[in-house]
This record gives sequence, structure tokens and C-alpha cells, in this order.
Amino acid sequence: MTLFRLDASIRAEGSASREIADIVEQEWLAAHPGDTVERRHIGVDVLPADAWGHAVNAGFVPVEDRTAEQTAAVKLATTLTDELVNADAALLAVPLYNWGVSQHVKAWFDLILTDPRVRAPEPLLQGKPVVLATVRGGGYAPGTPKHGWDHSTPYLRRILGDLWGADLTVVERELTLADVNPMMEPLRPLAKQLHAEALEAAQVAGRAFGLAPLTETV
Ligand SMILES: Cc1cc2nc3c(=O)[nH]c(=O)nc-3n(C[C@H](O)[C@H](O)[C@H](O)COP(=O)(O)O)c2cc1C
Repeated sequence: MTLFRLDASIRAEGSASREIADIVEQEWLAAHPGDTVERRHIGVDVLPADAWGHAVNAGFVPVEDRTAEQTAAVKLATTLTDELVNADAALLAVPLYNWGVSQHVKAWFDLILTDPRVRAPEPLLQGKPVVLATVRGGGYAPGTPKHGWDHSTPYLRRILGDLWGADLTVVERELTLADVNPMMEPLRPLAKQLHAEALEAAQVAGRAFGLAPLTETV
């Protein structure tokens, strides 16, 4: 069986989203020893920014008349979709950047959304176990000034869960910048608590993820 893992942090070291995803991945592998983990790190190995436009425009051109760029973009979209749908489960590690999803994450979703399989009657990930690990440097809890400013998590829930039908579990951590931002010094005890809670939640979600019933892959 295969686990597909997507990392979207723009750093490979010291990443809070990777820390959560690593725990979930370990739990998955504990339940499925010897499984393959297919990885794509779109925060570091970025997708070409013009691929989506070429993939969309290719849809209006007969295959034999497509430009080289359009052909390559359609191939890339097919590969990204294959990676996701051919896996038995998926794990996505996505930080909040500038109150939304990064261009890298948006490009990944937009390219998959050009694939004809997203228009099949059955949602793309119907019943597939998916864990989203998402982290935020600041605080967005109810009653805080930035409550409602996280436009990433609702978008990700909408596409993965509502549109694509995944069996979605979200593990969140915020205040990840408290230790490095002097202005957040008073928040450090809370940040420490949220960190510990997120790691615990990752363990719990990872265990359930490993035990989740799997649907047939296409
Ligand atoms: C360019 C940039 C923009 C960011 N924008 C936000 C933001 O809008 N809100 C927020 O809470 N944190 C923001 N952060 C902080 C990140 O969400 C935080 O550092 C997170 O831990 C990054 O994920 P990682 O630890 O997996 O690399 C931003 C960080 C960077 C580098």
C-alpha cells in the first residue's frame, strides 16, 4: 500500500508542519509496515507557476495542436493527480502563509483541478483517509484580533473534504513563532502548551489514520 505525503513548508529543517506530519507518518508505517511513502515537497521543489495556465488552455485545444508547454502541463497535472488518487491514504503538511495558502499549494490544487477525473460523478477522494497537518505562526482563536483571518484551513477543508470527499482529519498548531518573535514573549507558555497538544493530537490522529478502513484505489 502507498501513503502519499505532500509537504508545503518553504523550509526543510525546523518545520512545525513537518514535525506533526512525521508523527502521523510514523503511526501510519507502524500500522502498515513496509508500505511505500510517495513524497512531494512543493514548498522546496516548486511547481512551475505557469503550468496551470497552460493546462487550462490545453483543454480548449485538440491534443495534436497543443504547444509543448501545454502538453507538459497536462502531463504534470496527470502525474499530480495520479500520486494522490493512486495512494491508499494521503498526508498533507501545509503552513499558513500571508493569511492563506501559498502559491505552491494553490498551484498543486489548481493543476489537479484541471484533470478530467475531478469531474467524475464520484468525488476524487471519496472515503480516502486524509490527514491535514496545518500550522500558523500567530494566534487565531475566537476572541483574538486575527480570528477569522486564517483563509487557508477553511479552503483546504472545503476542497479535500467537501469537494473531493476525503475522510479528513485536521491536526492544527498555532503560535509557532512565539519562541522567535520577541513581541510574542508573553504567549510562550500558551505556545508551549499548544505545541504539546498538537504533538499529542498528531499521535492520536496518526493511530486512527493507520487503522482507518481503506477504499479501493483507482
Ligand atoms: C512568508 C511568511 C508568511 C507567513 N504568514 C503568516 C500568516 O499570515 N499568519 C501566521 O499565523 N503565520 C504566518 N507565518 C508563519 C508560519 O505560519 C509559521 O512560521 C509556520 O510554522 C511555518 O510552517 P513550518 O514551521 O512548517 O515551516 C508566515 C511565515 C512566513 C515565512
